[in-house]
Amino acid sequence: MIEEKYRQRAQEITKELSLDEKVRLCTGNTYWSTYPLERVGLKECVMSDGPHGVRKVKEKDHLGQSVNEKATGFPVSAAMGATWNKELLYQAGKVLGEECQRIGVDLLLGPAVNMKRSVLGGRNFEYISEDPVLAGKLAAEMVRGLQSTGTGACMKHFACNNSESQRMTLNVEVDERTLHEIYLKVFEIIVKEAQPLAVMGAYNKVNGAYACENEELLTQILRKNWGFDGIVISDWLAVEDCVKAVKAGLNVEMPSNPLVYEKLKNAVADGKLPEEILNQRVTETLGVWLKLQAQRNPVSFSWEDHEETARQMAVQSMVLLKNENQLLPFNTEKISSIAVIGDFAVHPRTQGGGSSKVEAEKRENILEALKKKAPATIRFTYAQGYDEAGETNEAWIREAVEAAGTCDKVVVFAGLPDSYESEGYDRQSMKMPQGHLRLIEAVAKVRKDTLVVLSNGSPIEMPFADQVDGILETWLLGQMTPDAIADVILDLEQPSGRLPETFPRSLADDPAAFNFKPDEGRLIYGERMMIGYRYFEKRGIEPAYPFGYGLTYTEFEYSDLETEQCEKEWKVSFRIKNIGEHSGYEVPQLYLANLQKTRLHPEKELKCFEKIYLEPGEEKAVIFTLKQEDFQCYSSKMKQWITEEGKYEILIGSSSREIRLKKQISVIAEQKIIPELKWCSTLEEWMEHPDGKILAREMLSRYQGFGMGIKTFGELSHFVQRIMLEMPMPRLIIASNGSFTENDLQTMFERLEN
Ligand code: GLC
Repeated sequence: MIEEKYRQRAQEITKELSLDEKVRLCTGNTYWSTYPLERVGLKECVMSDGPHGVRKVKEKDHLGQSVNEKATGFPVSAAMGATWNKELLYQAGKVLGEECQRIGVDLLLGPAVNMKRSVLGGRNFEYISEDPVLAGKLAAEMVRGLQSTGTGACMKHFACNNSESQRMTLNVEVDERTLHEIYLKVFEIIVKEAQPLAVMGAYNKVNGAYACENEELLTQILRKNWGFDGIVISDWLAVEDCVKAVKAGLNVEMPSNPLVYEKLKNAVADGKLPEEILNQRVTETLGVWLKLQAQRNPVSFSWEDHEETARQMAVQSMVLLKNENQLLPFNTEKISSIAVIGDFAVHPRTQGGGSSKVEAEKRENILEALKKKAPATIRFTYAQGYDEAGETNEAWIREAVEAAGTCDKVVVFAGLPDSYESEGYDRQSMKMPQGHLRLIEAVAKVRKDTLVVLSNGSPIEMPFADQVDGILETWLLGQMTPDAIADVILDLEQPSGRLPETFPRSLADDPAAFNFKPDEGRLIYGERMMIGYRYFEKRGIEPAYPFGYGLTYTEFEYSDLETEQCEKEWKVSFRIKNIGEHSGYEVPQLYLANLQKTRLHPEKELKCFEKIYLEPGEEKAVIFTLKQEDFQCYSSKMKQWITEEGKYEILIGSSSREIRLKKQISVIAEQKIIPELKWCSTLEEWMEHPDGKILAREMLSRYQGFGMGIKTFGELSHFVQRIMLEMPMPRLIIASNGSFTENDLQTMFERLEN
């Protein structure tokens, strides 16, 4: 939020700026910083990537291929999403903010929150979830943590940047309801709950206009509807027409583009760009830069503390997908040997490719961390298994099988090599490298009690799922990968993550894989709101592992679901008890099902969640609040959010598929939605109108068409009733044998008016 003192000062400065100075503020001054105006006390503002760590480059190479200033390397956003832990996301934001302040970064280019429309998204590792509520609420916490240090957050990429292929030119065609309920909702939650100081416009077009030049997105929705008072910067080289962009609501074209100066000045000179719009953009921009420079506040911090936050994030993000025969936790007092198989144990995969990649201090690898942390009584045998590209050979497989045959426990590290997923290109499949699969299969043949530890930024097919007892999803865990994974394997920590995205059985089940490449430059979101679990539930397809799923070492009992309406809100309370022998984290999830049949609705949608820790035998009460907007859906016809009156079902789940408690409630709409009747409204629309239906019934009593002369409407066949109801009234006039005229219809409108 921009305080009045900055806005006032910004307005004063704008008044005294020359046109030359104004246009300089509309683009970067360098690749990462803005134009300083010393004479008015404005310093340059510095920006840096990214969502997983501060990548302030040291050299001139900007695309993330060079060394950056010292920074803590966090797990990727997908892993952050898997923690379901709001407090941890706040802490991560705070750590990132402190590190920004230390090296003079005013604006961090993150969090990255685009929805995962298909598992094929090359950049899915960098995004939090397939669900806008999970992503929005977690990202809002990160923004709050970030901005608590004086550093600005720049949520990205606004909007519909859900794939990488042809990202700088493709046109996303998405219907308004889907846009608002899914692709914008995540940004709306963050703006309303955390007020980020900046938004990054995406590369792609949305419904015909580039996101960075899209007035509907940048002015109408972002600023007027949501009350956003920060600035919009473009993604790097995302602006095609800077005049259109400034008019639409873009503040700063990044990186530096001197061509902007003349174009904007000429546009002002020939009236194409009213100077008051330019002034408005400049004042908005100055407000943010003045606030950021006033808030500069480098505080001292301990790198160990920061790394501990990253380690906790890593530990809490791991999702135990399978744990048969109590394979985990390992009892390290009873183990004398562990086979560690797979090159990832020695060359761990810790990040995804592209601009989010941050170089953090490297220390030991996973094998070394295991040896460092394990009791001295445990002997480790390592077998490489495959090379960096994921290729294997008979010798490596033989060596791995031998190692597996001689050890108490067997752990195979596998997943996706770097080249399989990155910014800049999408995935072609969900498959792991053949070498990884062959290795797992060979080892599992001799040891079904194998634990497979996966490193991947997005869902993969697991043909081995039935061949092994244990599967631990560890995503890409950043700098603390070795510590965190060793901690869980050696039972120094327990896995507590839940899936922030659905793992399909195969690519064939994915909602949008078949329609993920732009077709002649167009990407049509035909699946509508049905992405992720919404799709699998609507289609009745069983995923390999569902949204919200994750095992623990214990069990939880849910009871006493109560609901209470408090004016426009609903309080939902219930109890959870740890009825197992082991402590553990549970993530109760509240889903809401809109049971009205008048419109298309997902089977249910996530509205609230919490992560709670319970000792064996401990019980806690959980209270969720459903607000008015939680019941709303978007009406494209009325261009507004509406509440449909009627029955809803509240479902409390330990995952989207394991519903533990549920209860139906009735909701009264705060305002009756009475669609306006128009000349071409159908008979059905008249019959659904509280006053119109009386007039329509009168009309039907005199109607002579469709055999009505001898029957009443109720006596007609269902077929005839349906075609009459769906017919626009002027067509009924034609078919009425003169018994229903345009004057009659006109009279109906006049009477309706009165
Ligand atoms: C990239 C990314 C964006 C990043 C920016 C600066 O192309 O899309 O996320 O912040 O450029 O590196």
